[in-house]
Amino acid sequence: MCGIVGYLGGGNATGILLEGLQRLEYRGYDSAGLATSHRGSLQVAKRVGRVKKLAGAVSGQTSRAKLGICHTRWATHGGVTEENAHPHLSCDGKIALVHNGVIENYLPIKKFLQSAGFTFSSQTDTEILSNLIAYHYRKEPEGGETSRLFESVRKSLRQVEGTYGIAVICADCPSEIIGARNGSPLILGVGRNEILLASDVAGLVSRTAKVVYLKDGEIVHVREGDFSISTLDAEAIRPVIDEVDWDVSESALGHYTHYMLKEIFDQPEALENAMRGRFARDGSTAKFGGLNVTPQELRQIDRIMFCGCGTAWHACLSLEFLIEKYARIPVEVEYASEFRYRNAPLDKNTLFMVVSQSGETIDTLAALRESKRKGYTSLAITNVVGSTIARESDGGIYQHAGPEIGVASTKAFTSQLLLGAMLALYLGRLRDMSFNDGVEFVEGLKTAPEKAGAILRHCNQIKDIALKYARKNDFLFLGRLSMFPIALEGALKLKEISYIHAEGYPAAEMKHGPIALVSADCPTLCFATEKDTLSKVISNMQEVKARNGEVIAVRSDSCRLPEGLADDEIVIPDAHGAIMPLLAAIPMQLLSYYIAVERGCDVDKPRNLAKSVTVE
Ligand code: F6R
Repeated sequence: MCGIVGYLGGGNATGILLEGLQRLEYRGYDSAGLATSHRGSLQVAKRVGRVKKLAGAVSGQTSRAKLGICHTRWATHGGVTEENAHPHLSCDGKIALVHNGVIENYLPIKKFLQSAGFTFSSQTDTEILSNLIAYHYRKEPEGGETSRLFESVRKSLRQVEGTYGIAVICADCPSEIIGARNGSPLILGVGRNEILLASDVAGLVSRTAKVVYLKDGEIVHVREGDFSISTLDAEAIRPVIDEVDWDVSESALGHYTHYMLKEIFDQPEALENAMRGRFARDGSTAKFGGLNVTPQELRQIDRIMFCGCGTAWHACLSLEFLIEKYARIPVEVEYASEFRYRNAPLDKNTLFMVVSQSGETIDTLAALRESKRKGYTSLAITNVVGSTIARESDGGIYQHAGPEIGVASTKAFTSQLLLGAMLALYLGRLRDMSFNDGVEFVEGLKTAPEKAGAILRHCNQIKDIALKYARKNDFLFLGRLSMFPIALEGALKLKEISYIHAEGYPAAEMKHGPIALVSADCPTLCFATEKDTLSKVISNMQEVKARNGEVIAVRSDSCRLPEGLADDEIVIPDAHGAIMPLLAAIPMQLLSYYIAVERGCDVDKPRNLAKSVTVE
């Protein structure tokens, strides 16, 4: 949600900033802007639309600037216009600022500044911050002990309420950038003769692998070849420099037309990576290095609460099925955004876990913090190493799925499902699961990459089905038991990238309302992957057919359907029940992808969405 990059060093600031910004574009893509500083003046360019447009706008200019900041926006306050795009300048043109987050008390501050003669040209909350900094800057004595710019930013931040990751430059200060974070991520990159700031590692990793993860309430003063970190109360912080293990080529598109397609095809490898080194020697259970909870402690828990948002919440629902079935531990699932405000009663032996691809989703982070405040052991399953959720949780499981750039989550989801199955196995073996069942489970899990690959090899058949239904405007997705979360996920994938109205339901719920939607114009996708409920699912399909609805069936090899019942069938391999949900999710991803492409939608950057939701 909004991407920020800042640069100070010996290189060409404009080129370096634009390159970083391009990599952060998945965080927001309404508009983009850049401010560089050279010989006492700020050069600002903004464009509505993508970073490419901004790059085009500045391409003719020869800039010698060594310092600058830039931003790609996901609108919160104010429409998508050039005026509202960042960087925002103070009305005297001295201060330029980029911001990710929301300033909640912007109205009283704006009134105060207006009474002091400041003027505003945008509808954003951010512009009050650049003006507030300018206000303090004017009052700050020249030649004081600390930099005027730094002090004025620090004083301003002490006045604002809300969330921010910011980078600030000043026309008078050709070798200073100030960065700060509270609730929105900001990372410092320490390169050779250069220092960068970025909202996430992707924005700076092509320049350096050495990073400092700023914490909430910290402010960093970047000067030529040097930086210092302190709190807003001026307490010095000793920086911890981490080395990130991020291969830039992993985030390259290669021969794929979209990141989403690439990431769908990355899945066999992502599944392999999720399992690597995580099985016990005896071959009967899983092992996790970073849980930081002993087997003895895990045996004491009598409930698990999972929280997440969007696709990650669907993963939580799938984990509920897996853990309840295989480990026999009661599980509850909550939207993180609800949990954080609901004050849900948790039993003293509850284990709390969040699931988040990015590790930065603000609601999930808030839920984690609330659980920690209440003293629960709070773990996380997350993909991004060093993300705020990863750092603040008591322990957890890294997904190792590789960077996910496409806004629609694909490989992160299936990897979460696989890790959920491994967790179910681990917890099950600590309780009632037998050695032999454990061995069979492990063998089943190990087939996931190869079976995922087999489904992907049939992508052209799924493409043909997608083309047949691409012009429909409503879809129903029905799944029983472990397929219910996959039905929800199938519907979400379709609506978010193709803008088709789609709903997911437990199959039997259809009769209690959604059946009213069934018609020749609203196809129904049904999952038939479990022998135990096959006859029931067949009945549901017949109910759809009786109302002139078309049926697309996703069935496992051995779950055969009566001749002619389904209009189209997607057959996936038989597999251990624990990996069936993740396998069934793959055709959903392909179906949505091909439908969206056929409808001319921007698959990797769907309208109104952003990859990482760091504002409420
Ligand atoms: C949908 C999608 C979103 C995310 C949600 C949580 O395809 O990607 O629904 O799943 O915003 O994001 P993370 O997992 O980063 O917390």
